[in-house]
Amino acid sequence: MTVSRPPMGFNTWNTFGAEISEKLIIEIADKLVELGYKDAGYEYLVIDDCWSEKERDENGCLREDRKKFPNGMKYIADYVHSKGLKFGMYTCAGVRTCAGYPGSYQHEFKDAKTFSEWEIDFLKYDFCYFPENGDCKTAYLTMSNALKTSGRDILFSACNWGYENSWDWMRTIGADMFRSTGDIFDNFISFKDIAESQMDKINSSSFGCFNDMDMLCVGMYGNGNVAVGKSCTDTDYETHFALWCMMGVPLMIGGDIRKMNEFCRNLLLNKELIRINQDAECRPPYIISKNNVHILLKFLENDEYAVGIFNMGESNDEYKNASSLIELGYPVSSTVLMSDLGFPVYSDKVFEFTDVFTNEKIICKSDSLCVNLEPHQCKVYRLKVRNK
Ligand code: GLA
Repeated sequence: MTVSRPPMGFNTWNTFGAEISEKLIIEIADKLVELGYKDAGYEYLVIDDCWSEKERDENGCLREDRKKFPNGMKYIADYVHSKGLKFGMYTCAGVRTCAGYPGSYQHEFKDAKTFSEWEIDFLKYDFCYFPENGDCKTAYLTMSNALKTSGRDILFSACNWGYENSWDWMRTIGADMFRSTGDIFDNFISFKDIAESQMDKINSSSFGCFNDMDMLCVGMYGNGNVAVGKSCTDTDYETHFALWCMMGVPLMIGGDIRKMNEFCRNLLLNKELIRINQDAECRPPYIISKNNVHILLKFLENDEYAVGIFNMGESNDEYKNASSLIELGYPVSSTVLMSDLGFPVYSDKVFEFTDVFTNEKIICKSDSLCVNLEPHQCKVYRLKVRNK
């Protein structure tokens, strides 16, 4: 399969974990269409772990849990397809999935055949219970081949959490996207750690094979399977989503779209951010980091750019005794020097910034742009550069 844009869709894990069923998947499929997610580009509906029986059938095949999916998986696939969506499923490179269901180790070709008979379009391939004497790269290569020769076009979403520096080789074994980190949790520190851990590795993520920084938590507000502690704020989600868009990684919704509030729905449907994420040139961003502030410059088609400034620092209250609040990012006034973005003072250009959240335009004729950012806040602009 040739994946020419970061894949977009919905995955059950973050909110529902093992609490999945035919009824839920049908409701999600309906809502993806009704609420405009499909039109915005979210096309894959993926069932994560916990869909199968605890053991294979007498022929050694995976079988769906009929209590959860009374009409079987092909029925679900047909329903999802009838909505104009694509259908994704999950298994694991080890002998068991992370939640303890049968894994595909040494069953790769058999399982790929089952998946292709069910007419799936996407397979997430996890890494739990992998034998000590197994070879990780060979295991992912084997499933990749099993899918490629299955007779069906199936996107291969490899998920080994960055083990053996997956960013260096997943493209070579035919993966279409690869999870590069451990699991995301519904809190800002998790978003920050994941994004920062990939900033020096994102370079290999582009057309054909994308670095996957895990499913989105937007809209979870402390509820669901990967919730931890206190709820995120709207600003936290804005920064989380904007970072994923600017880094050009897959956008898989993890919140419950049936109950998403308006703020988060509008955020996930923000046309400008999606356009930046889905840009045809698929260029990973150029990144300048200082203390807790990151400036991302993403080249876009038609000679445009996107610029994101992210204050990942904490609030004053949480760090009362810190010696330097600026280092921690307490409200920063961050100056983006146009020289740092490759426009030296003598370049003699006019910079037209358009805020992707407010649509506000800033015409900048000078050598720098000053933005004020609260802790956890970001600004993202589309940038056009003109002659003076
Ligand atoms: C691992 C993966 C998660 C999810 C669970 C399911 O932890 O990283 O994304 O698929 O397994 O058990």
